[in-house]
Amino acid sequence: MRFSSGLILALPALAVAEEQIPLLDKVKGFFNMATAAVSSSIPAMPSAPINAASTKAAASAAAAIQHRITLENWKEVLTVDPTASPPTAQDWLIFATGGNSTCFGLCGNATTAWNTSLPILAAKPNAPKFAYLDCETENILCNSWSIGAPALYYFQIPKPLADQSAPVPTVRYQSLNRTSTTTETFKHLIVDNEIEKVEPYEGVFHPFNGALQKYNLAIPYGYVTWGFAKMPSWMPMIIISFLSRSFMNKRMAGPTPAESRAAAARPAQ
Ligand SMILES: *[C@@H]1O[C@H](CO)[C@@H](O)[C@H](O)[C@H]1NC(C)=O
Ligand SMILES: *[C@@H]1O[C@H](CO)[C@@H](O)[C@H](O)[C@H]1NC(C)=O
Ligand SMILES: *[C@@H]1O[C@H](CO)[C@@H](O)[C@H](O)[C@H]1NC(C)=O
Ligand SMILES: *[C@@H]1O[C@H](CO)[C@@H](O)[C@H](O)[C@H]1NC(C)=O
Repeated sequence: MRFSSGLILALPALAVAEEQIPLLDKVKGFFNMATAAVSSSIPAMPSAPINAASTKAAASAAAAIQHRITLENWKEVLTVDPTASPPTAQDWLIFATGGNSTCFGLCGNATTAWNTSLPILAAKPNAPKFAYLDCETENILCNSWSIGAPALYYFQIPKPLADQSAPVPTVRYQSLNRTSTTTETFKHLIVDNEIEKVEPYEGVFHPFNGALQKYNLAIPYGYVTWGFAKMPSWMPMIIISFLSRSFMNKRMAGPTPAESRAAAARPAQ
């Protein structure tokens, strides 16, 4: 029974994961991809088509504005300007994108919209800092935060107080629609500050304060979910059918001795 206790421990994590839906998102993404393959009726981007030259210009402008974060550097990059006087918080906007295996190749339009929006966003008064997270290369980091591309993760990181105690950063997670995300979406979220209305995330995957970070489990979790993603798609079916079958067998076999004893001990109603 030793091995199954590990499995049972994993189950609540999976249930919690539904809050930010990494697996579900992957499944949905798969269906999106399948739909895209069979139908040409995918809604077009409402904004003007972006040509190759302006995309290239946008990408180089974007590179100057946003910091690329990785599993190794994110804690150093996402810090507070040391010259700011407390109490101050540094706002960081992290755009998570993905490629063929992490976004089913459907993140391109959202990423272009993000890169194109950056110069405008950066010009806003009290502009946040920007970071770019490519889940294709930073799969473990994305999994350890349990985020699915494309998404925006908004961090407000307070400067440590005089006594060096650092208040917990507030994080807000906003997943983005793969097909309908445009520059307008980012304007709405960031310039109009709609992202402030997103309920701060406080669950176990909180990048600074979540249980997984506290117990140093975020990275192992990242590897485990990465392993799940690498697993052939039929494997979860087999596991689920195996689990439900053994569960059913147990039910068929009637209550266990402990259960029947407990039932007998219960006073008649
Ligand atoms: C967006 O900008 C980043 C640089 O910050 C670049 O690596 C990426 O290729 C750009 N993507 C698109 C779709 O323009
Ligand atoms: C992603 O998939 C598309 C189409 O399947 C392919 O053309 C492209 O080369 C792939 N990109 C990478 C980086 O593998
Ligand atoms: C991206 O935009 C192009 C045209 O603007 C459209 O044809 C394509 O379907 C869009 N892709 C996705 C994944 O929405
Ligand atoms: C994304 O946007 C498209 C088009 O606006 C819509 O049909 C689809 O339901 C949206 N998907 C989600 C997950 O909201």
